[in-house]
Amino acid sequence: MADRPRSRTPVRFVAVALLAGLVSACSPFDDLMVAIFGRSMRDQRSFDPYENTLLPPEGSVPFSAGNFSAGPDQVSLGQPDPSAEMPPFFTATEVLTQAPVVMEMVNPVEATAESLARGERLYNRFCTPCHSADGVGANAALAPLHPMVPLFNLSSAATAIRPDGYMYGVIRVGRGLMPAYGHQIPHYDRWHMVNYIRQMQEQAGNPAPGE
Ligand code: HEC
Repeated sequence: MADRPRSRTPVRFVAVALLAGLVSACSPFDDLMVAIFGRSMRDQRSFDPYENTLLPPEGSVPFSAGNFSAGPDQVSLGQPDPSAEMPPFFTATEVLTQAPVVMEMVNPVEATAESLARGERLYNRFCTPCHSADGVGANAALAPLHPMVPLFNLSSAATAIRPDGYMYGVIRVGRGLMPAYGHQIPHYDRWHMVNYIRQMQEQAGNPAPGE
């Protein structure tokens, strides 16, 4: 009992500080200040965020215009080629449930040496932490650190029977614990990576059915 007043002081201080913070953050209090002083900090002659924004310069391409370069060998400038067919819209659920819109996409990129080289470069950059350079998830740098994460073996027979569209879909929107890479890997680059994964599967003795 004797030390009660001592322990109460910080509690009271915190309560007062909280109350003061709440009151000063409220707009009724602000309105009261306006009534008394004629103006408040809230109502001042300055631009509000996004008020009267400038238009973008003529010819500029918004980053979100389309994650889709004009051709397989061109850098994505966010500007789709009007003559090229836009890839269909689909959701992560449609990839998980293997919906036809995902499974029936046709790979428009031939697996040329250039395509495979591009696919390899991108695969090594984005996918090796979890799937390793040979596609075997168990060999990945992440495997010993996170033994509970199911790291798929992309060069396995089980993944080799997946259609190209499914793998494109997994890259674009992710699947289960795998994050989406659609915002970092543009349309044609995803297909280059699918070509490269096919090559890995063949090298592991698991060619896609019908090949
Ligand atoms: C952060 C770790 C991580 C990275 C990086 C990663 N993946 Fe995955 N991937 C996973 C996990 C985990 C799964 C299993 C997903 C699940 O829970 O169903 C998976 C599954 C897959 C599958 C499905 C295999 C099947 O047979 O269903 C494909 C295809 C795939 N990944 C391709 C890729 C590609 C291509 C890249 C590079 C762009 C990549 N992954 C990058 C973690 C990752």
